[in-house]
Amino acid sequence: MGRYIGAHPWLPPLADKVGPVKIIVVAGARPNFMKVAPILAALHADPARFTPLLVHTGQHYDYQMSDIFFTELGLPAPDRFLQAASGSAVIQIADILTKFEAVLTSEPPDLVVVVGDVNSTVACALAANKLGVPVAHVEAGLRSGDRRMPEEVNRIITDGIADLLFTYSEDADANLRAEAVPAACIHRVGNVMIDSLLRCRPRAAALPILEQLGVEPGAYGLVTLHRPSNVDDPEVLGGILAALTALQQDLELLFLAHPRTRKNLARMGLESQLEQLPRLRLLEPVGYLEMLRLQEQARLVLTDSGGVQEETTVLGVPCLTLRENTERPVTITHGTNVLVGVAPTAIMAAARRALDAPQSPPTPPPLWDGHAAERLVAVLANGVQRR
Ligand code: UD1
Ligand code: UDP
Repeated sequence: MGRYIGAHPWLPPLADKVGPVKIIVVAGARPNFMKVAPILAALHADPARFTPLLVHTGQHYDYQMSDIFFTELGLPAPDRFLQAASGSAVIQIADILTKFEAVLTSEPPDLVVVVGDVNSTVACALAANKLGVPVAHVEAGLRSGDRRMPEEVNRIITDGIADLLFTYSEDADANLRAEAVPAACIHRVGNVMIDSLLRCRPRAAALPILEQLGVEPGAYGLVTLHRPSNVDDPEVLGGILAALTALQQDLELLFLAHPRTRKNLARMGLESQLEQLPRLRLLEPVGYLEMLRLQEQARLVLTDSGGVQEETTVLGVPCLTLRENTERPVTITHGTNVLVGVAPTAIMAAARRALDAPQSPPTPPPLWDGHAAERLVAVLANGVQRR
């Protein structure tokens, strides 16, 4: 498909459809599950118009990186599981491309919905595009301006072929307009990840995870790291760990190690060094509900995660982003996020400033209100023939 220009850009191929519109929603990696859950729920709520199917590419496969979210978020079991190959990005993308093509051929949908910026996102968008199936991209228009970041290229390609672009911030709309995306294809609906957060927050509050870990509310820092630029290079990772080693003297740290990070720590021989630190705990990833609870009660979050920058913005918890840039500037202008970089002295200085500063109540961006998926599905419903 191309980009349909008109009041309802995706209407032309679907207007004549008799019966509900078949929509394949794609998820593959940890941050995808929180984004697809509210979209699938909203689609399932309107069976006269929509028949949603969930395809899980299998990009992430550990229990703590995948299955746990199905239970916590009430996701339906995937209709198809692609068992994507691990390995290089090329192997992974090529494998998902061919396997998703087979799904599209055997189960032709009217629309494919992809979320975020992972390899599963770009691979499934491209396969759909090549087979003439319209593509909707959720979380469109984010740009870090840094093409060395694998996700930045995924975002540019996915937005380049998407027919419907669902955005969550003004800067995202502006980025797309600057890339000549027709205004009729862009729909600002808000942040679906925050739909999940607001829905799950009460359940998260009831979990005894702080007690289980033996930490007091507001008295610990939470750390997540997984960007290749931070954790694949021994020099950069060593610098960040030096900063964490200094910081744990002032603030107990919970370091939730992503599988990529865990493997690199082991390969570089750094795991045992960290385990000797008295006030830094190297832990496995936790489930989504526990993660929300741990973020909400943290004194400080140090991260390179995209989703965590957004969640701390809504929770009003100070967030230090250990990167030189962010595709989510709205978390700085409207949130608690501070771009710190990866130099140990800069990390320590920013942490001390954050610990000294009074905390202020959150002021989340417009449309980060728990109703983004409903608005998104309303846009789709507008395009579907009334029946
Ligand atoms: C991927 C995404 C990244 C996202 C992150 C979320 C791309 C290019 N990267 O990074 O944008 O922020 O997920 O967490 O799509 N592994 C396991 N178990 C798992 C998953 C991964 O052991 O369940 C290991 C494998 O050795 C794998 C490595 O981690 O090769 C990297 O996994 P991959 O999905 O390629 O990239 P991530 O670093 O997880
Ligand atoms: N998350 C989680 N457990 C963890 C770490 C993160 O459930 O141990 C959640 C986090 O709250 C957010 C999402 O995973 O909802 C973010 O995913 P990740 O950081 O892996 O990817 P990114 O957002 O950087 O693409």
